[in-house]
Amino acid sequence: MLTELWGSLWAHLFFLLRPMLKWVLNRVTGKCELLRITYQYSQGAERTQNIEDSLKQSKRSELNQLTIEDSPNISNAVLQVMAVKNIIPEVHPQFENSFRTCLLQICGYRELLTNVEQLRKTKYNSDNPEHEKTLMHLWKLLMPDDELQTRVSEQWKFIGFQGNDPQTDFRGMGLLGLHQLIHFASKHNAEARKILQKSHHPKLGYSYAIVGINMTDLVYDLLKKGHMKTHFYNKIYGKAAIEEFHEVYCHVFYEFDKFWYSENPKDIMEFGQIREKYRKKLVHSLKQPNTVLVSGLEKRND
Ligand SMILES: *[C@@H]1O[C@H](CO)[C@@H](O)[C@H](O)[C@H]1NC(C)=O
Ligand SMILES: *[C@@H]1O[C@H](CO)[C@@H](O)[C@H](O)[C@H]1NC(C)=O
Repeated sequence: MLTELWGSLWAHLFFLLRPMLKWVLNRVTGKCELLRITYQYSQGAERTQNIEDSLKQSKRSELNQLTIEDSPNISNAVLQVMAVKNIIPEVHPQFENSFRTCLLQICGYRELLTNVEQLRKTKYNSDNPEHEKTLMHLWKLLMPDDELQTRVSEQWKFIGFQGNDPQTDFRGMGLLGLHQLIHFASKHNAEARKILQKSHHPKLGYSYAIVGINMTDLVYDLLKKGHMKTHFYNKIYGKAAIEEFHEVYCHVFYEFDKFWYSENPKDIMEFGQIREKYRKKLVHSLKQPNTVLVSGLEKRND
């Protein structure tokens, strides 16, 4: 309690003293904060996160704007910041590229979230032939040796949907859920089918598709809350494509499956509890500045 109070008092004091501290540091080092950050941290999450915080806290609206605006002109922004902050390229030759990479990552994360959100909001619609084709593709990838007898069929339960028609199972995750199931089944087919097979275990098993859609919910939440920044800022020195996010999903699903069996659950009723434990583990690791989410899948791909 007391330490919390001290903590918040310090945070408050730091916030109040920040402009003065910045001024002193600028005078002593002869460098503005953005420039200091690029010298202090090497490329990766720590640098980009610090740059992002600095831009957000800046009193200049043109700098603030860079963390809000939809697809700003990055080249233009870099030149503008260098002009405003009097950063001379001949004196600090690495700044331009370092800062550009940070900006690409910061804007890229925001754009990724927008794209993911759009896909999530798109409801599965069985009147849409594209959606239906994608769903049939999922069946083929997971059950290459079994024909689906009819569109509405008991067989869907075999890959872990709840009823005879998967369309109602996507719920809050919409097409994002379907696309991620497809990505896993197509990019890591052997692993996905192995996990599906294990999921039929009478006691320890679970509904593959339902849990798969739930893993979409998990990664989506981590992305929305900003936890995924650590991974993306460390892994991709530019804008992350949505496939990169699907790839994170594969790792998270794959690792969850291992975690599930290692927890030796009594039955599916323990799902909520084990999922929460796993989520906390993920959040904890994403709070470490050097984290890149990798699993056994990565090694097998090489
Ligand atoms: C971005 O800004 C640069 C420099 O001002 C300019 O040359 C370029 O045409 C701009 N790009 C776009 C897409 O507007
Ligand atoms: C995933 O599981 C958790 C825990 O049971 C639940 O709270 C959440 O609503 C589920 N999400 C989806 C999309 O099913």
